[in-house]
Amino acid sequence: MCGIFGYIGQANDAAQKVFNGLLDIEYRGYDSWGVAYWKMDNVGWKIEKRVGFLPSSFKFPASNISIGHTRWATHGGVTVTNAHPHLSCDGKLALVHNGIVENYLELKKELKSHKLKSETDTEIIIHLIEDRFKNNSLKHAVAEIFNKMAGLSAIVVSDGREIVACKRGSPLVLGKTKSGFVIASDPNAILPLTNKLIFLEDGQLVVLNKELKLYEVKDLNEIQAEFTNIDWKYTQGTKGQFPHFMLKEIYEQPQVLYNQIQSLDSVEKIIKELKNAFGTYFLGCGSASYTCFLGEYAFSKIAKKHVNFSIGSEFNYTEDFLTDKSLLIAVSQSGETIDVVEPVNLAKKKGTKVVALTNTLGSTLYRMADIKHLLNAGPEKAVASTKAVIAMVANLLLYAYGFAGKLEEGIKVIENSAKEIEEIIKKQGEIKKLADKIYQAQHTFVLGRGLSYPVALEAALKIKETSYIHAEGFASGELKHGCIALIDKGTPVILFVPEDETRPAVLANAMEVKARGAYVVGVGVEKAPSFDYFFKVKDVGASSVLPHIVFAQLLGYFLAVKKRLNPDKPRNLAKSVTVK
Ligand code: F6R
Repeated sequence: MCGIFGYIGQANDAAQKVFNGLLDIEYRGYDSWGVAYWKMDNVGWKIEKRVGFLPSSFKFPASNISIGHTRWATHGGVTVTNAHPHLSCDGKLALVHNGIVENYLELKKELKSHKLKSETDTEIIIHLIEDRFKNNSLKHAVAEIFNKMAGLSAIVVSDGREIVACKRGSPLVLGKTKSGFVIASDPNAILPLTNKLIFLEDGQLVVLNKELKLYEVKDLNEIQAEFTNIDWKYTQGTKGQFPHFMLKEIYEQPQVLYNQIQSLDSVEKIIKELKNAFGTYFLGCGSASYTCFLGEYAFSKIAKKHVNFSIGSEFNYTEDFLTDKSLLIAVSQSGETIDVVEPVNLAKKKGTKVVALTNTLGSTLYRMADIKHLLNAGPEKAVASTKAVIAMVANLLLYAYGFAGKLEEGIKVIENSAKEIEEIIKKQGEIKKLADKIYQAQHTFVLGRGLSYPVALEAALKIKETSYIHAEGFASGELKHGCIALIDKGTPVILFVPEDETRPAVLANAMEVKARGAYVVGVGVEKAPSFDYFFKVKDVGASSVLPHIVFAQLLGYFLAVKKRLNPDKPRNLAKSVTVK
């Protein structure tokens, strides 16, 4: 969450570089943004701050040192005053911050003579540093305060002559360009300027001026700094002819699936690990957690193997079973989700082998993992995950088929599901009609059994985040144990009814909700009398889950468009969730 970008060097377009960098990391938070820059004539900090999305361009005067930020609000509302950078009282220091200062109220008691302008936890830090900076170097002042800060944070501070930064938890990457140094939350944002990078590790502090020096933040002992030439390509997502990234990314999904089955080296490597492991755990958050949950069903059904699934943020409370023989498969599009990274850290301390199934090369999770499986879904710009989810599910199915010695069958079903997704995309007009019919609903319910239960959870999440309609996913047998009380005349209820063992029971549940006045939406192979609306999806075996998820993505997309919402940037969300 929150994007950081900074530059120091000989070039006189520092603020412009920072603004361009922020455009690449806006996915990390888009409540508000700000850029502080030090003017060439040395008159101190100038700041531009705004609420809302970054404009596509902004003209800055000449400068050669600048730090910028895109915010995802934690402490304090979305206002220009709360936007970063924050300045010290004397205006000499500027700071941007990603994370949460868990003990900020305690630290605030130290501030006697400062006038706080914002409601943020961040502003406390800059005033504390200001006090220390009176009799110390910036490096010492920053280190002293950072060591007092509880929680996971990255901070970047500048006095207009140098930049000092340190981190615990939140990512920071350094780059060396021909004219100076850059620092950012995401390596991809640096790649247009340089491919010479250093990934700052937790507990390290960097000082950037004419040179770069790296230290341990706890005692300021110097560490050898070595840049690595990274052979990665800059990925800039563009919408092309599509009105939104979300629609473009939905269209890309058949190709993403074909890519998954082209090279199976990682799949085969992970199948071997699965066979050697005593206890396998799948871990993810949000949509990725539903893919893991689906993985648990798929392993039971296809591989006849028990795997454990956990939501990332809950894993720390149940991971006592982990040993050095366990295998942890951590699934994350961004590879930065703190609720995944934290338990992975703990698992590594127990000697557990970690697989990262991620879309992001060089991400924290990617670097931590013993075995790295890249999704190769291409950059995903829409905040609601689509093609990364499809790639995750495909690979978890391939692991299950491979474990059962049926990899060829797995490849075939993925291929068939890619073809069926092409058909669904062609029939999207039918889904748009459904969206036009139900967009005014206050509540919807999404039901499925077996493999389709996690699909129902994912479908409900897509509808919620893009359209702000309250949508609940249920195991369809569970609805009658209480929640059926919520079904009223006309309440849309969506049921996934594939050609598998769940069909008769789900159809019975369809009748039950129909009897209470629901508007019944059936998605599957064959129309049933209880359906008010039917969307046909050809049976593609266990991988029918993939076209079913695509149906839900398109429904979420069209609901958002009908409600004149931006499906690419839903309110309150961010693409990379690096706070707890
Ligand atoms: C939903 C969505 C989120 C993410 C979740 C985990 O559309 O995008 O629920 O799935 O925040 O993110 P990653 O996969 O980056 O760990």
